[in-house]
Amino acid sequence: MGVATARLFASHGAKVLVVDMNEKAAKSTVDTITSEGGDASYFVADVVEEDSCKALVEAAVDRFGKLDILMNSVGIGGPGAAPDVTQELWTRVLDVDLKSMVFISKYAIPQMIKSGGGSVINISSVDGIRAAMTKNVPYAAAKGGMISATRAMAVHHGRDNVRVNCIAPGMIYTSMVEAVDDKKRKIRRDLAPLGTEGRAEDIAMAATFLASDESRWITGVLLPVDAGLMAAGPQSLLNNILDDYEYI
Ligand SMILES: NC(=O)c1ccc[n+]([C@@H]2O[C@H](COP(=O)([O-])OP(=O)(O)OC[C@H]3O[C@@H](n4cnc5c(N)ncnc54)[C@H](O)[C@@H]3O)[C@@H](O)[C@H]2O)c1
Repeated sequence: MGVATARLFASHGAKVLVVDMNEKAAKSTVDTITSEGGDASYFVADVVEEDSCKALVEAAVDRFGKLDILMNSVGIGGPGAAPDVTQELWTRVLDVDLKSMVFISKYAIPQMIKSGGGSVINISSVDGIRAAMTKNVPYAAAKGGMISATRAMAVHHGRDNVRVNCIAPGMIYTSMVEAVDDKKRKIRRDLAPLGTEGRAEDIAMAATFLASDESRWITGVLLPVDAGLMAAGPQSLLNNILDDYEYI
């Protein structure tokens, strides 16, 4: 999703700083954007460290002069029902998925205020809205926390002209789900009213709208981009928690 969004932002003229702890991945995204005529560079950071969050914002301002848009897309899975959760996993998932968006925003928002405003886009998940098909309490907690933090930040920074919105992706086919087997991928498609898995580009297009002036009067919203999954009724929700979904 980060790659697709960085490419689409760049195609609309944004200068993009691609941040990832995986240098190869970050460099490959920058190479793609550059080959498409865009302007991008990368910064390698583990975003759980506050110092890294500060440094990446400083790098964006140093390289491009100001910061208008922040997309918090970093995320890792957080498996386990409550009895399975270890302290190490809990801490890592909450740090990567939730703490990072707050601490990058901590340094990004003052920069946006300096240049008259900006747009923060947080990538949560439908798993932050309702119980998930997989047992993933740490992930659900982190993604739910992102939704609440989005609303709080939107309210606190409305008068600064900093808009803060949240996208809840549904079943999107990305590297995060490459390991998911065909049976589960079929379930992922079947659950959504549109009957298809999404693509990273679907999130990129929503993020581009939220980054643009076309959404200038939109802040604090939770936008599911999910093929209708969140609009579906109890039957679909029940399917999520049954091992054998064909029961219904
Ligand atoms: N794929 C889906 O179906 C789906 C559904 C709902 C929500 N989401 C959420 O969307 C976001 C993007 O998902 P994706 O599928 O594009 O993920 P992805 O795994 O393809 O990309 C995530 C990137 O984050 C980087 N990363 C991980 N930990 C990091 C850290 N500590 N510091 C810096 N970089 C780090 C990884 O190297 C990777 O390049 C995530 O927040 C994810 O939770 C995904």
